[in-house]
This record gives sequence, C-alpha cells and structure tokens, in this order.
Amino acid sequence: MKKRVLSGIRATGRLHLGNYLGAVKGMLELQNPSTGSGQEYETYYMVADVHTITTPYSVEELRKNRREVIIDYLAAGLDPEKSVIFQQSEVNEHLELAFYLSSVVTVAKMQHLPTFKDKVKQYPENVTMALLNYPVLMSADILIYKGELVPVGVDQEPHLEVAREIARRFNQDFGTNFPEPQRFKTNGEYVPSLTGEGKMSKSIEGSYINLTDNLDEIKSKIARIPTDSGQGSSVEGGVKSLFEFVELFQGKEKRDYLEAQYKGSGVKYSDIKLELSEAIFKELKPIQEKRREFESNPTLVDRIISEGNEKARRVAKETIKEVKEKMGLS
Ligand code: TRP
Repeated sequence: MKKRVLSGIRATGRLHLGNYLGAVKGMLELQNPSTGSGQEYETYYMVADVHTITTPYSVEELRKNRREVIIDYLAAGLDPEKSVIFQQSEVNEHLELAFYLSSVVTVAKMQHLPTFKDKVKQYPENVTMALLNYPVLMSADILIYKGELVPVGVDQEPHLEVAREIARRFNQDFGTNFPEPQRFKTNGEYVPSLTGEGKMSKSIEGSYINLTDNLDEIKSKIARIPTDSGQGSSVEGGVKSLFEFVELFQGKEKRDYLEAQYKGSGVKYSDIKLELSEAIFKELKPIQEKRREFESNPTLVDRIISEGNEKARRVAKETIKEVKEKMGLS
C-alpha cells in the first residue's frame, strides 16, 4: 500500500509566499514523484476551515476563504487527478475522531504547548476550548487518513509531536495501527518576514507577499525590507532576511556571493532588490495565470471540491468505524 500524505492550511486568507514555500511546494513534491524522491504517495490536501474558528474570525471572510484557498491550491499545481483536494468541515469524521482522540490527551499537556501559549498572548480574551483542542483536531486530520508524512512549516513541529504521542497512546490502549506522522521538510520551511523580524505571517501587516501580487507590488514590498549601508562584518536583521529570499529564489550560490561582497567591498541594495523582485514574480506569474482560468470556471471548481470531499469521506468513515469498534462504541 502506498504511504499516505496529509496537509492543510487554515482559511485565514489568500495564500502568501510563506504558505507557498513552506507547505504548498512540499505538497507538490509529494504529489509529483518524478520531481522528488520517485516514491509514490497517496496525497490528501485540505483547507483547514474548522481550525479557522479557533481564534476570532469573520463569518463572511471564512465563507469566502474556504473556497479561495482551494483555488490557490489548484493554481499552484495541486491536481485533482493526483491528489484528494477537500474541505475539512465537509468531512464530519475529523471532528468525531478529534473527540475520541481527546480522551488520551491531558489538559496540562495542551496548555504547555508553545503554539498554544503564543495564541493566548495574541488573543488573551479568547482562550477557548476550541483553541486548546487545536492540536487534537490537527492530529485527527492526519490520523484519520493514517497519514505518515506531513508537508508543513517548521513551526508546526510541536503539533506533529502531539500527533505522534496520540498515535502511540491510542495504539497502546486500543490496539489501533496509527502511524507516527513525520514532518516533510522543504527548503523554504522558514520564510522570513519582510519586516526583518520573525516569520512571514498573514497576521503581521507588511510581513508578506501574496501569491497574487504583481511585479510592482512585489518591488515595492521588497524595497521596504530594512537594510543598512551595504557593508558590515555580520549579516543580521533585514539584510539577513533579504539574503534568505535571494537564496530561496536565486539559489545558494548567489547568496554566498552577496554575503562575501557585503563583508568586503559592499553591496548595492537597489540592484539586489530589483533582481530578487523579478525572480519572485517569475515564479508567481504562471500561478496567477492559472488562477484566472479557475476563477473563470466556477462549475469546475465546485465539481473538484465536491468530488474531493466525497473521496476523503469514504476513507475517513473506514477509520471511524475501526476506532469505534476498538473503543467499545459499536
Ligand atoms: N496547523 C496548520 C497550520 O497552521 C494547519 C493544519 C490544520 C494542518 N490541520 C492540519 C497542517 C493537518 C497539516 C496537517 O499551518
């Protein structure tokens, strides 16, 4: 049997460069074995729309974004002929399994996760049960397909650790055969913020480039990355972010060359930023063109989504049946 892969992105908005490099590129690599290891996988890719309700959100935005993310996936090259592309909320079994799994998870464990603590700081008035359960639902997303590989950014590692622990505990207590899912790493797993501090994130204004940005928008965003006089002994802050982008889009050699120049005779940022902007746009342009095709064919998108949801449901139902039997619930 082929190993299964699952991944998802929250429906908080249209995808940005961080999602693309950190998750979508890994999804593509596992979907298209010829570009990667040659190993074939069964790939399940969803929009994590239920996870969106764990922090304050707008109902109208969510209604829109749970579809927009799927269109972004399709535009980026996720292919319904090769992958099951679906919406988490349409497969009720994820929520059902999350509740069963929560019976082997302690409250203390969830409260101590760094990802939970970060959200508590961000939304001190909204520390809900849904938020505390975030990692359990994510574990259910993966385990319901017996997923073994999860292409996501490095920030998700604590959640995968939870999924592995749940799998172990559950197998021990109930004799299930859940695999312990591993993260599939891509080289864009950490995409820096354009502000020069932290990672690129939808929730930090000025930190991200959208997949739909045109060349002018990209140029003006890249231009705003904070830099210095162009010369120094160690590369830090905005300059470091800039060089990381150079590596991601123009290769490691180019980055090494610029770093050596920075430490020597100095660099000229306007040229670097212009070349980098063009390299980024070159990668995004075909995605933008494909997006327009899907936007102009809503019936096709609807069909892809409903077929994906149905395929996912079939597999999810089998796991639920097994789990209920083993837990004494049937
Ligand atoms: N927590 C993930 C993120 O913020 C999104 C997500 C939800 C996910 N369920 C998942 C990712 C299952 C991988 C697998 O990026």
